[in-house]
Amino acid sequence: MQEVRGVIARSKGAPVELATIQVPDPGPGEAVVRVQTCGVCHTDLHYREGGINDDFPFLLGHEAAGIVETVGDGVTDVAPGDFVILNWRAVCGTCRACLRGRPWYCFNTHNAAQPMTLTDGTPLAPALGVGAFVEKTLVHAGQCTKVDPAARPAAAGLLGCGVMAGIGAAINTGGVGRGDSVAVIGCGGVGDGAIAGARLAGASKIIAVDTDPRKLEWAKGFGATHTVNAKETDPVAAIQELTGGFGADVVIEAVGRPETYKQAFYARDLAGTVVLVGVPTPDMILELPLLDVFGRGGALRSSWYGDCLPSRDFPLLIDLYQQGRLDLDAFVTEEIPLDGVEAAFAKMHTGDVLRSVVVL
Ligand SMILES: NC(=O)c1ccc[n+]([C@@H]2O[C@H](COP(=O)([O-])OP(=O)(O)OC[C@H]3O[C@@H](n4cnc5c(N)ncnc54)[C@H](O)[C@@H]3O)[C@@H](O)[C@H]2O)c1
Ligand SMILES: [Zn+2]
Ligand SMILES: [Zn+2]
Repeated sequence: MQEVRGVIARSKGAPVELATIQVPDPGPGEAVVRVQTCGVCHTDLHYREGGINDDFPFLLGHEAAGIVETVGDGVTDVAPGDFVILNWRAVCGTCRACLRGRPWYCFNTHNAAQPMTLTDGTPLAPALGVGAFVEKTLVHAGQCTKVDPAARPAAAGLLGCGVMAGIGAAINTGGVGRGDSVAVIGCGGVGDGAIAGARLAGASKIIAVDTDPRKLEWAKGFGATHTVNAKETDPVAAIQELTGGFGADVVIEAVGRPETYKQAFYARDLAGTVVLVGVPTPDMILELPLLDVFGRGGALRSSWYGDCLPSRDFPLLIDLYQQGRLDLDAFVTEEIPLDGVEAAFAKMHTGDVLRSVVVL
């Protein structure tokens, strides 16, 4: 066991705090990773606001890169010294999804078996089964995906959640292909990931929608061909106008609210696809005329983690990053210390950052 510093959310809505975390030595199938960087994702804020569940206290952070320090018995895929991106989809290989050859839906993903705890023994619930705003973290070895150690950790780690979720929402879930028109509602780290993914997939038109003009400027850098400020213009009408009056082939909702989901639903062409990658909270209800759901046809899909398979997608995207075809660096607005997470949450609300990345 070792004691390190980490960021916890002790109770619903309370500011996060630095605490001493006890990290057990890795048991069978587990690994201890020395965290180098961890991005601040909106999902961390959802946890701290009680929007995910009530399993407080949480050890926050889940978008991380680091170096494997020690591994437990039976671990063969990673070894001490390996540079890894942490993932929250360590597939089991034996559930009904894995057995059908669709491991990106794995319903029984692995996490560390032993809990990390506070010094009084209170077990911590790690965000998304990771918990990485901490100097060292205990994970299941399958949560460590080896990538080229030449990649910059602050950028590479973002593939661990938001950027991967966005890229995958476009490519894997939305099936964006050459010549498609795509609209993305909400241009944070996830939405800009979707824009970058749509560009990689060959979309001909990429419409970025946000309420913040700075976000729209950044979106252009990732490949948006058009921007719509939803504070000034009705996004549905604007997307229709930009697509010959029809709507986009694929509309990706990266906010996680019923209003923006409805916009995505109506901004899509007949037989088009809506992808919900934004995460709603338990109080939210969606109301839609059933006749419109039928009459507009197409597909209404949700994207868990961009339907990614970390072992396939992380190394591939790191290759594209190193070839200069995917600008992961542009997602990193600022590098912050471990005690800067609360301030980073505030900046998320004021729109000052795309990603704040904790550097340890
Ligand atoms: N499905 C997944 O696997 C997955 C993974 C990571 C994050 N998420 C979720 O994706 C969502 C976005 O995460 P993020 O980290 O990019 O958050 P973020 O806060 O960085 O970005 C959200 C963006 O939405 C914009 N926005 C807010 N209201 C809007 C409106 N009415 N119309 C248009 N734009 C609006 C904001 O200005 C901001 O740019 C969150 O709900 C997060 O929990 C989902
Ligand atoms: Zn499985
Ligand atoms: Zn996340």
